[in-house]
Amino acid sequence: MSGSAEQTEAQLAAVVARATGIAREAGARLKEFFAAGVETEYKGDVDLVTVADRTVEKLIRSRLAENFPEHGIYGEEGTRERLEGQYRWYVDPLDGTTNFAHGLPQFCVSLGLEHRPTGTKADEDGTLAAAVIYDPMRDELYTAERGGGAWLNGRRIRVSHTGALAESLVATGFPSRKRHTNPNVHFYHEFTLRSHGVRRAGSAALDLAYVAAGRMEAFWEFNLNPWDTAAGILLVIEAGGRVTGFAGEPFKLDSREILASNGLIHDELVGLFEAMFAGRDLEPIPTPLEYAEQRAARERDSV
Ligand code: IPD
Ligand code: CA
Ligand code: CA
Repeated sequence: MSGSAEQTEAQLAAVVARATGIAREAGARLKEFFAAGVETEYKGDVDLVTVADRTVEKLIRSRLAENFPEHGIYGEEGTRERLEGQYRWYVDPLDGTTNFAHGLPQFCVSLGLEHRPTGTKADEDGTLAAAVIYDPMRDELYTAERGGGAWLNGRRIRVSHTGALAESLVATGFPSRKRHTNPNVHFYHEFTLRSHGVRRAGSAALDLAYVAAGRMEAFWEFNLNPWDTAAGILLVIEAGGRVTGFAGEPFKLDSREILASNGLIHDELVGLFEAMFAGRDLEPIPTPLEYAEQRAARERDSV
């Protein structure tokens, strides 16, 4: 299949079918490593990596090159190939490494394809064309091609109809690098108070897939990379949702901060981000002493 011209919907469907085979093979390898148990190394502070991340990226890289010799590859574990090409795969061989390393079965393979027509500048985005996310432990395969809808194991998925944050289940994540400089815990607190709950399940790609599948209403995170988000963004859009930055501005693959939702609660979320960044409407956080006094008072009142 040529990578030199824009592909039709039918051609993209064929690309997704092949990428699905690659993701399933990669997922099967992850499952074997998971069953056997792997040693953990540290890339940074608490930034973990295992032999599974590296081996599976190598596997995906060679399978993509066999199937799509003209396509570029940009992988989390360092693959940078043919980035001048008109198509580029963003590869996260194992999204959810911390879960994986602890034996928690919440992780996936994520493959997102960007179309970058000739003339696209290095700092410009192309168009997301295809997405495959595979959760090998649940055997859940999420796929999308631009204009063709979003699918879970061959069934069409759509974002939820919930229209208010107060009735929503939402998700976020926290980085494994420079954690102390990340303000997300304040947002976690506010969103917890204003929703049915905030899940922090440890795989951004699956979080996005769950928004697409209508299992959750929204997902946000600070400081993600395109290999975490590319596939999940297309799933959310093709499922009828919306993806922007925190101020509602268009999302770019190198934006790092992402807000994805079912669309219906998006403006409300953007408003909350705006208020929080401006320091308005915040729930005051008590000191430990204040908290103990308040708790004691509540206990006295309830007697
Ligand atoms: C991580 C996961 C996690 C998110 C982190 C990511 P990795 O990816 O997606 O949910 O909170 O920011 O780095 O390291 O497991 O591929
Ligand atoms: Ca990741
Ligand atoms: Ca990873």
